Amino acid sequence: MPLVSMRQLLDEAAKGPYGVGAFNVNNMEQIQAIMEAARETKSPAIVQASRGARSYSQDRFLYHLMLAATELYLEIPTVLHLDHGNSVETCKSAVAMGFTSVMMDGSLMPDGKTPSTFDYNVKATREVVEMAHAKGVTVEGEIGCLGGIEDGHGAGLDGLSHLTDPEQAVEFVQQTGVDALAIAIGTSHGAYKFSSKPTGETLKMDRLLEIHKRLPNTHLVMHGSSSVPKDLQDIINQYGGKLKPTWGVPIEEIQLGIKNGVRKINVDTDNRLAMTGAIRKVFAEKPEEFDPRSYLKPAREAMKKVVALRMTQFGQAGHMGDYAPIPLEEMVKRYQEQRLAA
Ligand code: G3H
Ligand code: 13P
Ligand code: ZN
Repeated sequence: MPLVSMRQLLDEAAKGPYGVGAFNVNNMEQIQAIMEAARETKSPAIVQASRGARSYSQDRFLYHLMLAATELYLEIPTVLHLDHGNSVETCKSAVAMGFTSVMMDGSLMPDGKTPSTFDYNVKATREVVEMAHAKGVTVEGEIGCLGGIEDGHGAGLDGLSHLTDPEQAVEFVQQTGVDALAIAIGTSHGAYKFSSKPTGETLKMDRLLEIHKRLPNTHLVMHGSSSVPKDLQDIINQYGGKLKPTWGVPIEEIQLGIKNGVRKINVDTDNRLAMTGAIRKVFAEKPEEFDPRSYLKPAREAMKKVVALRMTQFGQAGHMGDYAPIPLEEMVKRYQEQRLAA
């Protein structure tokens, strides 16, 4: 089936209710890992690409790999989503290429680092909503800023300095018409989120519950939601890596979120850890190997395992065939008739 809108996947997830993992990709092996995990667990799939991923893959390579995925995994409703679009232009180019969902991250200025004003965020996001909905494409916005200690996102902000204000979240959704809302509740991108198992002081689930109470019909998105499992850290360190001790977002907290309006959960780091661990293992155990397939296959398999586990933990497993895809043209009509208010 053709790529489908994320709005449809999230509306269906809300009926469940369940959550849907959104997994980042840069290359063929990562796309294959997600599609295989979706097939194995009978899950709908959200594949997402950052600006960095689009530039790494020259954009069109990624897009055509995704078309291959829709041909080979006909039975799986699959979304191609832009992760952290930094400007209206970036979102426009993604829609022009065929992405069926975009994130306008107006919580930061176009440099992707400096926290923006509420007014800037509303204006930029509103513009993307008008442009994208006219094509039936879904829009995710963000209010509040995530931490980004390690990877440049958020310019090293810590996870607690720009938490989402529940009142502002309501205004933001009303003024922009976004389909999904990313919120900041203490998580950060990358491996180094928490220096010990998070408590209510560092991971603000109470804030999420408060936002959900005020926006019960809005699909909430949790970014920075890798769990950074100890076993994946250990494999890397066992085979020559040098990760410092670190904690991610516990699965049970994500599951609590899913019971309270979270419909999309962003995971990248766990897959990076899994692939790197698998590759390090081959290099350490078989130093004579030099065929890239000898390490890319185990890397792909390791990522598939993590994705399949998350799909099961988030509850999307088994829901692949619940619905027929709604064509984007029909989504356009629904937006025009205002049948899809947030
Ligand atoms: O939001 C962050 C994702 O992990 C993507 O990271 O910008 O390094 O591709 P990236
Ligand atoms: P992690 O770094 O926790 O995997 O978060 C990924 C993310 O939020 C992508 O937008
Ligand atoms: Zn993110």
